[in-house]
Amino acid sequence: MAADLAYAIVQTVHNFGAVAVVGSPAAAWVWQREQRMPPMALVWLTLSGWIIQALSGSAFAVTSYTSRGELPEVAGVAFVALCVKVLCAVVGMVLLCAFSWTSWRQRMQLWIWPSLVGIGATALTGAAFLRWFG
Ligand code: HEM
Repeated sequence: MAADLAYAIVQTVHNFGAVAVVGSPAAAWVWQREQRMPPMALVWLTLSGWIIQALSGSAFAVTSYTSRGELPEVAGVAFVALCVKVLCAVVGMVLLCAFSWTSWRQRMQLWIWPSLVGIGATALTGAAFLRWFG
């Protein structure tokens, strides 16, 4: 019962994070296509979304370990899907950090939003494979 509640809470956070990593860059892309500078709030929302996904994704493992005393077995296709998700999270965070804190913003402006939508969609696809091959 307590473990189910913990899983449900972690899953809720993870689901909202998924919405943020796909929805926020999609909204920013619409702004950019209309020749307008997307609000910085969308940059922070996307970055927060990726951080939340990495933390809540790890929280699944912590919940399994504390409730069952072992980590879930993730092998084959499910393992590849998990690696894809982790890679997407790393690339997403690196791109957003470069965009926020380096002088490359101008150069990245045109391609960063569609790229982040694609990276988010890839992670979302990985989630489906992790779920059903896991
Ligand atoms: C470091 C990054 C991530 C880790 C470690 C991680 C880990 C996990 C784990 C362990 C699960 C539970 C799988 C299961 O129920 O068998 C899960 C589910 C899920 N993840 Fe992630 N995840 C990460 C990133 C992402 C991202 C970036 C997205 C979306 C863009 C995402 C979307 C989902 C969704 C939608 C589910 C629920 C799948 C379902 O039960 O139908 N995850 N994730």
